[in-house]
Formats: sequence, structure tokens, C-alpha cells
Amino acid sequence: MCGIIARVGDGSAIDPLLTGLENLEYRGYDSAGVAVQNGSGIDVQKRSGKVADLKRSIDDVPLEGAVGIGHTRWSTHGPPTDENAHPHTDHVGDIAVVHNGIIENHATLKAELAETGHEFTSETDTEVIPHLIQSFIDDGMDTEPAFRRAIDELEGSYAVAAMRSGEHVLYAARQGSPLVVGIEDDGFFLASDVPAFLEYTDTVVYLEDGDVVIVDGNGIEYTDLAGNQIDRERETVEWDPEQAGKGEYEHFMLKEIHEQPTSIAQAIEGRIDPGRGSIDLEGFEPGTFENVDAVQFVACGTSYHAALYGSTALNQAGISSTALLANEYSVSAPPIDDNTLVVAVTQSGETADTLNALRSADAAGAKTLTVTNVIGSTASRVADETLLIRAGPEIGVAATKTFSSQAVMLVLLANRITADITGEPRTDLRSLLEALNSMPARIETLLERSQAESVARRYGNSQSYFFIGRGLGYSVALEGALKFKEITYEHAEGFASGELKHGPLALVTPDTPLFAVFTGTEDEKTMKNAAEAQTRGSPVIALCPPDHEATEMADEHLEIPETDPALAGLLANVQLQLVSYYAADQLGRPIDKPRNLAKSVTVE
Ligand code: G6P
Repeated sequence: MCGIIARVGDGSAIDPLLTGLENLEYRGYDSAGVAVQNGSGIDVQKRSGKVADLKRSIDDVPLEGAVGIGHTRWSTHGPPTDENAHPHTDHVGDIAVVHNGIIENHATLKAELAETGHEFTSETDTEVIPHLIQSFIDDGMDTEPAFRRAIDELEGSYAVAAMRSGEHVLYAARQGSPLVVGIEDDGFFLASDVPAFLEYTDTVVYLEDGDVVIVDGNGIEYTDLAGNQIDRERETVEWDPEQAGKGEYEHFMLKEIHEQPTSIAQAIEGRIDPGRGSIDLEGFEPGTFENVDAVQFVACGTSYHAALYGSTALNQAGISSTALLANEYSVSAPPIDDNTLVVAVTQSGETADTLNALRSADAAGAKTLTVTNVIGSTASRVADETLLIRAGPEIGVAATKTFSSQAVMLVLLANRITADITGEPRTDLRSLLEALNSMPARIETLLERSQAESVARRYGNSQSYFFIGRGLGYSVALEGALKFKEITYEHAEGFASGELKHGPLALVTPDTPLFAVFTGTEDEKTMKNAAEAQTRGSPVIALCPPDHEATEMADEHLEIPETDPALAGLLANVQLQLVSYYAADQLGRPIDKPRNLAKSVTVE
């Protein structure tokens, strides 16, 4: 939700800034802008629309400068207009600022500043920041103390980068929104996420809440708000820029769907031994979870569906577990004690709702764990323990490969927790691990043979799309529907198979195709539920192995290879991802950047 990038160093900042904005566009794409030092002042170019629109404007009116900041926006305060686009400046254009997050006390600050003559030109919360810095400079402060003083006045969440006219310096601070430093031989980046500058450097420093950094072309100073020096470690990221690019694919989403054999292989590498029937999760010795008496999963969006998958797997193994929407957690959290394990599932590790739930579980005394894709993310800092899904960068706003990697990790975690609590691994653990080992190959086969494109073309102009499943298949039905609505903008809903007859059947017509997910558990009941919709007109598309009985009753069949019931839903999900993709493609939707959405939602 909003991407910020800043660069100081040798050479022009423009290309690195624009590349960074393109790489961060998945975080928001309502408007974009950059500001650079031009030698005598600050030049700002910003506008509503995509980064490509901004680039066209810059082609018409070129910018130059070795220090600059940039922003791509997902609107929270004020619509996506040119005026509300970042960077924002003070009234004399001396200070420019980009910001990700929400300044909760902006109205009070704005009113106070307005009383002393400050005039505002946007409806954003951000605009108070440059005015505030300027007001302290007007009081006689130097830039750095004025910046610190302004940051100290802010309430809410922020990652801020600022610069002052005539200075070869960037000022930045982080509280509740991500900010990472990229270090080159001849310069520095500040950005919301690593892919922003991966073409330029893989040496990074993840900042923490409360950090303030001052950086010029020669060096960087890490401090707390009061100005005390702090140590921050350099790390090398292992993602390469190739991974972060689209390659031969037309969209990131299609590329990421096809990356699932690799991302799942990475998730399980070194963690399972089918021969010995053992699961080795680094950092979690056998017995780690022996005192756990209940598990609560918290997550949002696609990650919530993965959480539901993990929670269902645990319940099926006899361990008490719930999956809760993180944004509901503050009003509906079940009781917690020292033996409750709360697992936050979050691809980015930065979703505000999930972080809030994690923090409140921590404060209530639960053991906490996060399952995330991002090393150094806020969730991994807040939680007691972290389990990385190792899916590599995911750029498409609609999550695909991270869902399957999350679900796989949660199946492993569920089995470890069960073995620790009961003292016994499940009797057929070896065959589950063998199936897991073969999953990359099975997905390869599925991708090669998939008929999803023709199904999407046949049913792509329907009125509504329904998805049903049972047990683990239910979470896949929910995820199938979410993916479909996110990128096609068509109405899609997922239901527990048995729930169709309790209301949704009223909506069924020949114009409402029904995708039925068969996982090998109570399939005859799901078949009966699908048939109830079919007799009322719905075309049924069955997701099941080739010799499954459902292929006889269904109107269409999307094949999933035979596998363990704990994993069948994940194969079905790959088919559903493809159906959504091709349906959206046929409708001409902007697949990687669906309207009104953002990949990482860092506000409540
Ligand atoms: C946003 C994205 C979803 C994502 C959800 C949770 O809503 O658009 O695709 O599933 O956030 O994100 P997380 O990073 O916590 O998994």
C-alpha cells in the first residue's frame, strides 16, 4: 500500500527512481511522482495514473538530479488526483516528502499549521509533514533536528523519506510501515521493499520501528529518534533481479502460477525426509509445541484461506484450532493463555490488520509464530518465531504461488504440532511426505495439460461464478472465488459444499457455472451438492482426478493428478488460478494490477 523509493549517490537519480517505482507499483497504482534536486531547487513531477503515465510526462519535461524521492500511491486520504499524488512539499517548495502509512493526528497538525499561515494544496494526511519540518526550520532549527522534531509530532504509521532544497542528503524514518536501505558502491537507496532496487544492489539493511536514518552520497547514519547511534546489520538478499522480472510471460500472475513447481520445491527443501518420515523445520526442535493446547491462525485475504487450510488440517488431526480474519480479531478473539499458539500467516509480513492481531496475541501472553515470505518483515520481528515460505518475490497483486507455499508450510507445521502434542506422528506421514515431494512434478504435469483456458473461454461471460468444496476443499473454494473476483471484476463466491442448499441455491441459473473441488474426502456428498445445483441449471466443472466418478456427472472436467487428500486441494487451486487468469485476460482486465487493490495493505 503505497511504495516509496529514494536515492542519493553519484549519477542521475531519475532512472533508478523510475525503475524503483515500476518495481513497487504492485503496492499501489493510483498515482505516482518524483522529486529531484536540480542544483538550484527541487523539481517535482507527479500525477494521477500509473508510473507509465508519469514516465511519459517526464519524457516531455525531462528532470535531472543526483538526489531524489519517488512514490506510487494507493489512496487513503483524498482521491487519486494530481494534487494528492506524492511527493508533497511545504508552501515554499523547500522540503519534499514521500510517505507510506497514515498520520492519525494530521487534522490537528494541519489546523495548528494553518493558524500560523501554512496553506495546503492537497487532501492528504502526508502534506502536514513537509510543512511541519519547514515550520521548525522557520523557528531556527537545522534540517536534521527539524526533521526529528517533525517525526516526533506524528502519530500513526509511517515510512517517510524527505529532502531539502540544496542538500545532497536524504532523511528517513520508520514507524509501522516498511523501509529498507539498499547499499551500492556509489550510493544508497531507501525503499518500501527490496525489489525496488534489486537491479542495482542486493546489499540491504532492514530498518526497525523508531529508526531514523540520515544518508548522503558518502555514508549513512542509523540512529533512534533522539539521535543516538544504533547498529543495523547488512544482509545480502538471495533474490535475483531475473526472479523479479516478467520473463517470457505476459503477466506476472501467469509467471507466478508457473513458478509453483519451483516455489514448492524451495519450501520443502531440506525440511522433509520421506524415507525417514520426518519433518525438520529449522529452529523448531521436536517437542517445541508439546505444551500447546490450542492454535489460532490470523490472516487476511488469500493468506486467510491458507490459514483456514492449516487450521482444517490441524482439526482433522484432532488438535483444536481456529482460523480468524485478522481484522476481526480485536472484537472476536477466542480466549488465550500461555499454551495458546497464535500463527500469523502473511505473505508480506506487513499487513496492518495481521500485525495488530499478532501484537494483541503477544500482549495477551500467547506464543506467536509468523509464516511469511519476507525475511526481516515486521511480522517476523513481532512474532516469537518465523517460518519462511521461501516463495521468492511475488509481484502480481493477486497472490498465487505464495498461497500454495503457505499452505504447504502449514501442512508441515500442522504435522509437527500434532506429533509434538500427541507424541505420535500421523501413521501415514511417509506417504504424505512422498506426495509432497512429488508435488512440483505433479504441478508441472497439470500446467502442461490444463484445459483451464478453454473452460474460461466457454463460461467467461456468465453472470456469477460459484465455487464449492468440503474440508480442505472449502478453503480452496474460497480462494478460487477470491482470485476470480479480484482479477475479473465478476461476481464470484465460494461456499462449503453442504451450505449451497441453505441459501445460495436460490441464485443458481444456467448462467452460474459451479466449480466443484474434490479432495478425496466425502466426495460423494460434494457430488450430490453439485448435482443439486446442476438440476437447477448450473453447469458443473469438476476438479478431480481423471477416473473420478464426478467426471461422469460434471459438464466439464479440470484434471488434478492423484495425490494425498491433504494436498489435492492445492492442485485444484492451480487449475482455478488458471481459470481466473484466462477469464480476466479474455475480459481485457489489467491482471497484475486490479482496480482498487494493493498487494500489501498497511492500513487498518
Ligand atoms: C491484500 C492483497 C491480498 C493479500 C492480503 C494479505 O489484500 O491484495 O492479495 O492476500 O492483502 O496480504 P499478506 O501480505 O498479509 O499475505
